[in-house]
Amino acid sequence: AAMTIILGLESSCDETAAALVTADGRILAHRLATQEEAHRPYGGVVPEIAARAHVEALAPLIEAALTDADMTLDQVDVIAATAGPGLIGGVMVGLVTAKALAHAAGKPLIAVNHLEGHALSPRLSDRTLQFPYLLLLVSGGHCQILLVRGPGDYARLATTIDDAAGEAFDKTAKLLGLGYPGGPQVEKAAAQGNPKAVPLPRPLLGTAEPHFSFAGLKSAVMRAVQSGQYSKPDIAASFQQAVIDCLIDRTRRALTQADGMTALVVAGGVAANQAIRAALEQLAADHGLPFVAPPLWLCTDNAAMIAWAGAERFAAGLIDDLTVPARPRWPL
Ligand code: KG4
Ligand code: ZN
Repeated sequence: AAMTIILGLESSCDETAAALVTADGRILAHRLATQEEAHRPYGGVVPEIAARAHVEALAPLIEAALTDADMTLDQVDVIAATAGPGLIGGVMVGLVTAKALAHAAGKPLIAVNHLEGHALSPRLSDRTLQFPYLLLLVSGGHCQILLVRGPGDYARLATTIDDAAGEAFDKTAKLLGLGYPGGPQVEKAAAQGNPKAVPLPRPLLGTAEPHFSFAGLKSAVMRAVQSGQYSKPDIAASFQQAVIDCLIDRTRRALTQADGMTALVVAGGVAANQAIRAALEQLAADHGLPFVAPPLWLCTDNAAMIAWAGAERFAAGLIDDLTVPARPRWPL
């Protein structure tokens, strides 16, 4: 029989995306439309603008992905879409579209947790990666350490008690007047600065539970900006180093609490940061573990990771009913 083909849809934040992936991890097509320009004047994602933009972008992206792969909807075997967590208006657009396609074409539907998309994405880029692995999931909305045992089978070892790592990058960018989205801008500025120039706190460093906290760091960055004593690159570099120190200390702690891991893995938008990747790679080497990080385009939001999570869930028999709800909050 022909290889199973999964259509994946993503619309939980400010990227609209559609992708076609095979059950053995070949990416046949992936299309993405970013809404960055629409949200830029507001310095962050406006939910109402996002939902409307998803409505306009999604159908043409699906058609473009099918055209790229030289396929029709009939040849797709499984329809997968992000069903949460995220901005509810956008999630509903993607999920309702997937339901309509699944119903019309008579194909199974898979409701994917966006976090599971990120969590399994390293297995799409590295087909040798085996369960269980320790995952640092760092995005705009989440900062977690997960034990990934299989599709639908996760243990959360740590989370943030306030802001997510990407949120801290975005807020720091705003404070420094670097624009939106903040992460890449802060990384660029940090490359020109001295990471030791500004004394900043490392919240929760050394505590037994490997949780995160970034709110205090954000306040300290605000005070550093207001003091007028430091250059933007120095603040950016010092901030990035403080985040790295926290991520490394907390992940090192989690490694001592998780036995039998095959690898240390990072995923989510913040994993696009080269300095963070380098520090994690060193940590993995110190523990004699392989380090796995998806390519940059697969770290930030995309539909290939949703299609792939759909592929993994389909293979495990985890199919959803057409009544499955969109969920703004949905812990893994
Ligand atoms: O996973 P993602 O695309 O969307 C969410 O699910 O949140 O992550 C977006 C987040 C944003 O906060 C963005 O500023 C951050 O990832 N990010 C970065 C970098 N690229 C994106 N943070 C630090 N350094 C980067 N190079
Ligand atoms: Zn994401």
